[in-house]
Amino acid sequence: MRIIAIANQKGGVGKTTVTMNLAAVAHEAGSRVLVVDVDPQASAEFWATQAEQGAGIPFDLTTSTDPAQLASMRDLPYDVILVDTPGSLEAEDVLTTVLQNADFVILPTEPTPLALGPVVRTVRQVIAPSGVDYRVLLNKVDPRTPADASDAAGLLDQTGLKRFRAFIRTYKVHTLAPLEGKVVTQYPHDQRTLRAVEDFRKVNSELLTQFANEKVAS
Ligand SMILES: Nc1ncnc2c1ncn2[C@@H]1O[C@H](COP(=O)(O)OP(=O)(O)OP(=O)(O)O)[C@@H](O)[C@H]1O
Ligand SMILES: [Mg+2]
Repeated sequence: MRIIAIANQKGGVGKTTVTMNLAAVAHEAGSRVLVVDVDPQASAEFWATQAEQGAGIPFDLTTSTDPAQLASMRDLPYDVILVDTPGSLEAEDVLTTVLQNADFVILPTEPTPLALGPVVRTVRQVIAPSGVDYRVLLNKVDPRTPADASDAAGLLDQTGLKRFRAFIRTYKVHTLAPLEGKVVTQYPHDQRTLRAVEDFRKVNSELLTQFANEKVAS
């Protein structure tokens, strides 16, 4: 069982989007998945509520106002727990508590020079001191200009932050999904949706490789 926190003190960078769609592909790959929403904004919960009008989301989701409860969730019958955290500097206490119970952190960020400052700060001030391993994930990469991702990756590498090789492109399906109460694996697989799903599958397989390597090392 792995508890993975999705975090970035900057708002609107895709934490909830990454949480829900990564949960979808992990479920698709056969993992037993729980999403825990510890964000008072409760965007993930809203998403799941929207889904109740349709097919529902294909994995379990719960909200927790007390992130310390995560410690007791470790014994639940899941392979992975994804924790969606709030995006603000004031929420640092919540993030710190989540990190005490997390095995890994994913930090989504937009691939622009101005967005990288906040992610570097989050890693240096909160993630690194916690000692929990992490990777930055470039999100909202324009599919028409994939070079943006390489540019942002280059800048990130200069800061010494660790990152996923995979990145998530901007697709309308991601913008529509919360209101429609669906995750990316539930849309008809036209070409664009397939690319959107593929992005998340790549992130999931990088994660699995990472965890497998850790096991060998330990
Ligand atoms: N890859 C993407 N393609 C298209 N739209 C995206 C993508 N990622 C995020 N978005 C959109 O950007 C907005 C912010 O995303 P999201 O809510 O996931 O960010 P967040 O970090 O969870 O925000 P908050 O800090 O408020 O919790 C949403 O409208 C979402 O649909
Ligand atoms: Mg959110």
